[in-house]
Order: sequence, then structure tokens, then C-alpha cells
Amino acid sequence: MEIQRKILGFKLTFIAIFLLLANADNGTSETTCDKLESNSGNEDEWMEEEEWEMVERRGNQFVVNNSPFYFNGFNTYWLMVLAADQSTRGKVSEVFQQAASVGLTVCRTWAFNDGQWRALQISPSIYDEVVFKALDFVVSEAKKYKIRLILSLVNNWSDYGGKKQYVKWGNAAGLNFTSDDDFFSHPTLKTYYKNHVKASSSIFLLSGEH
Ligand SMILES: *[C@@H]1O[C@H](CO)[C@@H](O)[C@H](O)[C@H]1NC(C)=O
Ligand SMILES: *[C@@H]1O[C@H](CO)[C@@H](O)[C@H](O)[C@H]1NC(C)=O
Ligand SMILES: *[C@@H]1O[C@H](CO)[C@@H](O)[C@H](O)[C@H]1NC(C)=O
Repeated sequence: MEIQRKILGFKLTFIAIFLLLANADNGTSETTCDKLESNSGNEDEWMEEEEWEMVERRGNQFVVNNSPFYFNGFNTYWLMVLAADQSTRGKVSEVFQQAASVGLTVCRTWAFNDGQWRALQISPSIYDEVVFKALDFVVSEAKKYKIRLILSLVNNWSDYGGKKQYVKWGNAAGLNFTSDDDFFSHPTLKTYYKNHVKASSSIFLLSGEH
């Protein structure tokens, strides 16, 4: 168990470093990550003092309450899908608990699943309430373990629907699209997506109340 946890910690840290590098405009974030690793012992103390504010970007620095925000994070797209089923919901709490115990404070996960198995959005602006509640559970559990979320709202690729599914919905509504990239330019598809952003934002605001 202890060994498993260490391996998990290692993998997640590795992913976090990768994400930081992938997002960096220049080399600065590498330094950010090194600083974080030597700092992580103070994390709990530090989090308690801090208000639960949104992270902002200032220049090439992440900041919370005017202080630099350094983090280790992890990438788990599947939380909402597992939370939608009572028999697997416990895994969500477990992963947050394990992540928190090794000092991880940011998680990237999917807040979309378009038109497929366990879809959140069954068709434009029509949601599966069970899956919506599952997403709400993910958001409130993350907060409980003081883990901030990066919520992806659509996929460039076709896994879990993505822009391809939006194009299919447009064609089903009588439009004639030939490219998945029409997602980026056609007013109808843009409206579908903007409506999803609005609908899902409401849950992120409400989840703070639990
Ligand atoms: C790169 O980092 C330097 C030093 O921190 C900063 O002045 C510069 O604006 C950054 N460049 C970009 C493209 O972010
Ligand atoms: C998104 O997908 C298109 C192909 O449809 C590809 O050309 C493009 O590079 C992808 N964008 C990103 C950011 O991966
Ligand atoms: C759909 O678009 C294609 C190519 O743009 C065109 O050849 C075809 O006739 C169109 N079909 C309909 C039903 O409008």
C-alpha cells in the first residue's frame, strides 16, 4: 500500500512537471516546479491561511491573493464518469485523498462528455441529471481535499464526443458540415458550445455551497 502510494505520487508529480513545461512560454516554469518540490512540506499550513480564491495569471506567474502560486498537479480525465456510478464513486474520493496526502493541489479533469456512453450532454443543452450530479460531486470532493480543478469543457479530439460530436449535432439539425473544424467558426455550433459553458459554469458556482 505504502509502495503503491509512492508510485502514484511519483507518476503524478511527473505529469505535473510535464504540464508545467507544456504550458510554459519560456523556461521560467521549470524553476517554479523546483521551488515547489522543496516547499511542499509547508503546504498544509499555507493552504489553511489562504482564502479559497481562484488562481490568476500575472505576466508569466500564477498568483492567488497576490502571492505566487506554486503547485504539483495531476491529470485524471475520468472522475465524472466514475462518480456517475455508485459502485465506483468512492474512487473519486480515494484519488483526491491520495493526491492530497502527497502534496498535490491541482487536478485537471473532464467537465464534458458529449453524446456518448454516460454522456453529460446528451444532445445540445440536454443534460443527464445523474452525470451532472456526478460532476457536482467531483467539484465538491476536490474542494474538501483542497485541490483546485482545471476543468476541460470540450475535446479537440473525438474521445468523449468533442468537436466532432458538435458537428454531428449540427448535421442532425439539417446543416451540412464536412469538417470537424467547423466547430470553431459556424455560429450554430459556437452557440451550442457557449450554452454548454454557461450550463456547466452554474454548477461550479453552486458547488462552492456544499
Ligand atoms: C520570459 O521570462 C522573462 C523573465 O521572467 C519575462 O520577462 C518574459 O516576458 C517571458 N517571456 C514570455 C514570452 O513570457
Ligand atoms: C486540433 O485538431 C486539429 C485537427 O482537427 C489539429 O490540426 C490541431 O493541431 C489540433 N489542435 C491542438 C491544439 O491540438
Ligand atoms: C453539402 O456540402 C457539400 C460540399 O460542401 C456539397 O457538395 C453537397 O451538395 C451539400 N449537400 C447538401 C444536402 O446541401
